[in-house]
Amino acid sequence: MAYNLLKGKRGIIFGALDEQSIAWKVAEKCTEEGASIVLTNAPVALRFGEIQKLGEKLSAKVIPADATKMEDLEQLIDQSMELLGGKIDFVLHSIGMSLNVRKKREYTNLNHDWMQKTLDISAISFHKLMQTLYNKDAMNEWGSILALSYIAAQRVFPDYSEMAEAKALLESFGRSFGYHFGVKKKVRVNTLSQSPTWTTAGSGVKGFKDFFDYAEEMSPLGNATAEECADYCVMLFSDLSKKVTMQNLFHDGGYSAMGINPSVMKED
Ligand SMILES: NC(=O)c1ccc[n+]([C@@H]2O[C@H](COP(=O)([O-])OP(=O)(O)OC[C@H]3O[C@@H](n4cnc5c(N)ncnc54)[C@H](O)[C@@H]3O)[C@@H](O)[C@H]2O)c1
Repeated sequence: MAYNLLKGKRGIIFGALDEQSIAWKVAEKCTEEGASIVLTNAPVALRFGEIQKLGEKLSAKVIPADATKMEDLEQLIDQSMELLGGKIDFVLHSIGMSLNVRKKREYTNLNHDWMQKTLDISAISFHKLMQTLYNKDAMNEWGSILALSYIAAQRVFPDYSEMAEAKALLESFGRSFGYHFGVKKKVRVNTLSQSPTWTTAGSGVKGFKDFFDYAEEMSPLGNATAEECADYCVMLFSDLSKKVTMQNLFHDGGYSAMGINPSVMKED
């Protein structure tokens, strides 16, 4: 059911790779709620992913941009404002990739050149994006910027490896830039800490199924799905959350507040 919560708003959505992607569901919900959007992803993802199909379905333009490259971000933002006909109301950063995880390096034996790249893609890109939006004065007043995070920023999940540090940095950029954007433009910046979700990025983590099942069992409401995440993103892009800023918001069925749950204790 749609409520027209984003009627007349313009948005940019990063990170829709395939139907599984959280950003894919967010893009669908945002257009259902009346927004006009631009979709973007890394050039390589445009070649191998299915984003063009989504673009056609939603009548949304797809613009390639490597989120680690300032010149790509600048072009993307200029073109988006032109295509959408004005300044931007909301932006979703849904980007994550770890070279060390992908190449199965143990946390105690990481390649630090790869780590730099991981941090650049998964966290510093968020700062680069916000800096570009800020310096171009591309956001409308009371706009909303959101990035997706994971609870490994606060707690230890050994197989999440260096992505834990990437998420901690991402969340910190959200808080710090949220101050500057709030003062200058009344724009809010938040991170949304999502349950384990079956996607390309998620299932790349070693032992993902166990992680997913454990979180499902621990959370009183069960894991939050990608569709439910999209609903929460819509609310955070809408005018119903205007004074929520500089927060890391858990969207995890209650997982983050649990100590033990008797249902996961062994019986003997
Ligand atoms: N899946 C989960 O369990 C889970 C849980 C919590 C948070 N998240 C976060 O959600 C976000 C989206 O991930 P997802 O699970 O939908 O997986 P996904 O693999 O569908 O999305 C990751 C996206 O990042 C994009 N990307 C990678 N390098 C890029 C670059 N240089 N420039 C631009 N885009 C680039 C990929 O092309 C892909 O579209 C990530 O930040 C991820 O860490 C995922």
